[in-house]
Amino acid sequence: MSNSHEGLPQPLTARRGKSLSGRVKLPGDKSISHRAMIFGLLSVGETMVEGLLEGDDVLRTASACRALGAKIDRLGDGHWRVHGVGIGGLRSPADVLDFGNAGTGSRLMMGVVGGHNITATFDGDASLRKRPMRRILDPLVEMGVEVVSQAEGGRCPITIKGAADPLPITYATPVASAQIKSAILLAGLNSPGRTTVIETEATRDHTEKMLSYFGATVRVTPEGHDGRRIELEGRPELKPRPIMVPRDPSSAAFPLVAALIVPGSDVLIEGVMMNPLRTGLLTTLLEMGASIEIVNPRYEGGEDVADLQVRSSTLKGVDVPAARAPSMIDEYPVLAVAASFARGETRMRGLNELRVKESDRLQAVADGLAQAGMTYAIEGDDLIVQGMNGAVPGGGTVATHLDHRIAMSFLVMGMASDKPMTVDDERMIATSFPSFVALMRNLGADFYA
Ligand code: S3P
Repeated sequence: MSNSHEGLPQPLTARRGKSLSGRVKLPGDKSISHRAMIFGLLSVGETMVEGLLEGDDVLRTASACRALGAKIDRLGDGHWRVHGVGIGGLRSPADVLDFGNAGTGSRLMMGVVGGHNITATFDGDASLRKRPMRRILDPLVEMGVEVVSQAEGGRCPITIKGAADPLPITYATPVASAQIKSAILLAGLNSPGRTTVIETEATRDHTEKMLSYFGATVRVTPEGHDGRRIELEGRPELKPRPIMVPRDPSSAAFPLVAALIVPGSDVLIEGVMMNPLRTGLLTTLLEMGASIEIVNPRYEGGEDVADLQVRSSTLKGVDVPAARAPSMIDEYPVLAVAASFARGETRMRGLNELRVKESDRLQAVADGLAQAGMTYAIEGDDLIVQGMNGAVPGGGTVATHLDHRIAMSFLVMGMASDKPMTVDDERMIATSFPSFVALMRNLGADFYA
């Protein structure tokens, strides 16, 4: 498969234009799209998927599932069929599993491979090769997985030999991470006993929800103040179920913040997933005084969804508690953009996990803010932005470090800053939101190469 970022970087610039208006239909949720492929692989028979995100990251996971034995067909726009082989039925892939930029795909699939008596090598692009994988390998080793080889510091390329009979473990995740939780549960699917994951802060629960939807026995109980205990009985027979992927709230963040900061805008964002473990940005923006009306809330495809009517707003700075981080972990770059246009200071607390995303996002955001002429500070794990009350200078070029969300965030900034904002490379946007540029232009954005 070709890389979405082979060849030369492609800079893109956003400049202030007219107000934004119209309706947007976002692509499917990235987290659920990865899991749709994986649950399809692990069920015997045909899983039909509607609304799949056809971004590079998810296509990598689909390729990996094929390499492990699934037959996967694209039937139409977002409409896919996965013919799975079931738990215990996987084969060793013939080639390296190349996950490109995809942290979620690679980490969840390490869990899948780790629970089977097969061997596979995981690799990816320069960004993925920098990301810490020991957090996944450590619990898998406890389950009986052998790490055959790894690059320095537990990084890709990594070869693992899965466990034929994964040991049932109880594991308390050291950091709030749905990827760690999911990798353990996916490995635990082929364990003869009960696998338990304890998280002190609840993270996105798509894996647990899909496990029970596909017929596994999973028990989720509260743990401590904000945490959860998830117990999975091993060796269920997963039964194929139709999946309707809801629209991605992490992608919604970009047109949402754009509509808030571009004066005179009025935008309807349709059918956004409202899973409470994903709506931290919405909570924060409402606290900042954003005009966001939650219209027509409904239940679709196993998740709460709603339309968001967004009108440009005068925002005020807020203090974002660290406890909110798991429910908006991917949204801090674009929140920093919203904070730049607000009146007063915004403090975002507890951002240490941002350092190990597709880039060191804390640094990348800070550098982008510097390019835009903003005043900001990093204090420990906190980011503090001094809002400019609508008058963000702008005018710089932002280094995106192969990070889609850095690229999209600073393009959104350029839609309302005094001078245009340039990002050094827009190609990675295709990993999560291939229609971003067209969709934003449709609303009225002025982007040019
Ligand atoms: C994801 C979990 C989060 C998030 C990522 C998607 C998932 O990562 O940042 O974009 O689908 O499980 P962590 O588990 O590392 O926080």
